[in-house]
Amino acid sequence: MSLTPIGEPRQKITVASLREKKHLQQPITCLTAYDYATARLVDEAAIDVILVGDSLAQTMLGYENTLTVTVGEILHHTRAVRRGVKHGFLIADMPFGSFHVTADEAVRNAMRFVKEGGAEAVKMEVGEKRADVIRRVIDAEIPVAGHIGLTPQSVNVMGGYKVQGKSLAAVEQLMKDAVALDRAGVCCLYLEGIPREVAAMITAEVATPTIGIGAGPECDGQVLVFHDILNLTFGPPAKFVRRYGDAAAVITGAVQAFRADVMSRQYPTDSESYHLPRETQQSLETVMAHKRRQRG
Ligand code: KIV
Repeated sequence: MSLTPIGEPRQKITVASLREKKHLQQPITCLTAYDYATARLVDEAAIDVILVGDSLAQTMLGYENTLTVTVGEILHHTRAVRRGVKHGFLIADMPFGSFHVTADEAVRNAMRFVKEGGAEAVKMEVGEKRADVIRRVIDAEIPVAGHIGLTPQSVNVMGGYKVQGKSLAAVEQLMKDAVALDRAGVCCLYLEGIPREVAAMITAEVATPTIGIGAGPECDGQVLVFHDILNLTFGPPAKFVRRYGDAAAVITGAVQAFRADVMSRQYPTDSESYHLPRETQQSLETVMAHKRRQRG
């Protein structure tokens, strides 16, 4: 339930309000957005967190996975989303390779997302192993969202997109990752593709708000990919995806109807056309009549 009375102006979502929501046990909502139009719609629907995910590699750019997408490409989409978001908290994803080489490079790239993209935080798929990099970015006054569990940037290490944290050792490692990021001071923690029981333990253990995707209902919030909820991903959805609309059907129907109208000359009609002002029309008719007389 929202505590904002109907008619009250919406509050800007910040790092502090995300913590507050966890404290008050108010669910946090998050969706991805990659362009101005969808960012506006998502923001105006009062979604709390808007993530320019590196999933744009597949959803927007048609790449096979997220490994190839670049800082420049995500920045380009972040700028467009920034122009559409007023109230939501805007997070940009740091792509594979942008924070793996040195902490200095991580800070420099994170800074670009804030300065050039207008992001309020950056997200990194890191656990305990790179908690020091997260600390360096936070030290540079940039809020960081952590992302653990099924981390698509590690697809080659994981050997596919597999649910993580199934063995006792894996559960222990996930818990260590979550605690390390919590201590490093992340602003929120994405939990992807892990058993519900493990996500519930992590959520209870850390002060950081957790946002789950395929991690069960006990997380402090939930995120889904915009294209997934609207049937725009051209493939069988993952188990956790719930479809809330069929934009593919709407788009296909509209495109086919346009084509049929053009082919049958039913588009455009006279009322969808511009007309000459009456005086110009009359002058034009006079000129044309004169030309016809001259031609004999
Ligand atoms: O890139 C993305 O869309 C993400 C979310 C699924 C958390 O990382």
